[in-house]
Amino acid sequence: MKKTALITGASKRVGRALTNYLALKGWNIAIHYNSSAKEADQLKDELSKKFAQCKFATFQANLMKEKEVQRLIPEVIKEFQSLDLLINNASVFAPSYLKDTALELIQKQMTVNFQAPFLLSRDFANYAKQGLIINFVDTRITTNKSNFAAYSISKKALWELTKMSALELAPKIRVNAIAPGVTLPPEDQDEDYLWELAKEIPMQKPGGLEPIIRSLDFILENNHLTGQLLFGDGGENLGKN
Ligand SMILES: NC(=O)c1ccc[n+]([C@@H]2O[C@H](COP(=O)([O-])OP(=O)(O)OC[C@H]3O[C@@H](n4cnc5c(N)ncnc54)[C@H](OP(=O)(O)O)[C@@H]3O)[C@@H](O)[C@H]2O)c1
Repeated sequence: MKKTALITGASKRVGRALTNYLALKGWNIAIHYNSSAKEADQLKDELSKKFAQCKFATFQANLMKEKEVQRLIPEVIKEFQSLDLLINNASVFAPSYLKDTALELIQKQMTVNFQAPFLLSRDFANYAKQGLIINFVDTRITTNKSNFAAYSISKKALWELTKMSALELAPKIRVNAIAPGVTLPPEDQDEDYLWELAKEIPMQKPGGLEPIIRSLDFILENNHLTGQLLFGDGGENLGKN
């Protein structure tokens, strides 16, 4: 039987790359989206034509809303009969120093980036009962730089959750994390923005999507790996030059 993956925020950017890659490897995919219905449908149609032997379906859920989070995994299992992989990729990324952070901003960062993965991990454990969870954190978790204070704290918490859930859910479920660094520019910026940032990191160039796909593969293929974090960040976690 084919394996099924649920990828949150799957319609664009990193999530889309993960979806394309897993489809190529023969997985069925539950494509989660929030506002990008058109992109999600296009992706589903493209993949269904290209990989007719696999199944693809889209699922809308606003991860800010507890009820929508709670129905996601049961709906995916109802559609696919099983679920083997959860990738917590969806995220919000807003700048703000601690001193300037409004309640609404911290609530949004924590709810989408931490609370939703927490609840989805719980539901994966209770409904899917076996398999693999991969959480997307960020190389920023290694610093105390606070220009994205609420975002960074939400990702630090997600890394702690990765270890805690890896311990509780073993041996049936493995839980690991990937920490990208300079990967893709925010949607309102271009490649020059990324190359400027990359000047300061040890590898001195943006990583693009390749290190993330290689990290995904390593986690998939190493069935003794749990509670670990792979940095796909060109060495940024070591410090900047
Ligand atoms: N890009 C980078 O350079 C980089 C660097 C470090 C870490 N990361 C991490 O890697 C992951 C992927 O990065 P990315 O840049 O591809 O992410 P992204 O484009 O910022 O966000 C991915 C998706 O998250 C979904 N999302 C946002 N708010 C949501 C909500 N309330 N409910 C449900 N879904 C919501 C959006 O789906 P819709 O479009 O459908 O609304 C969006 O397309 C993230 O976890 C990010 O923190 C990325």
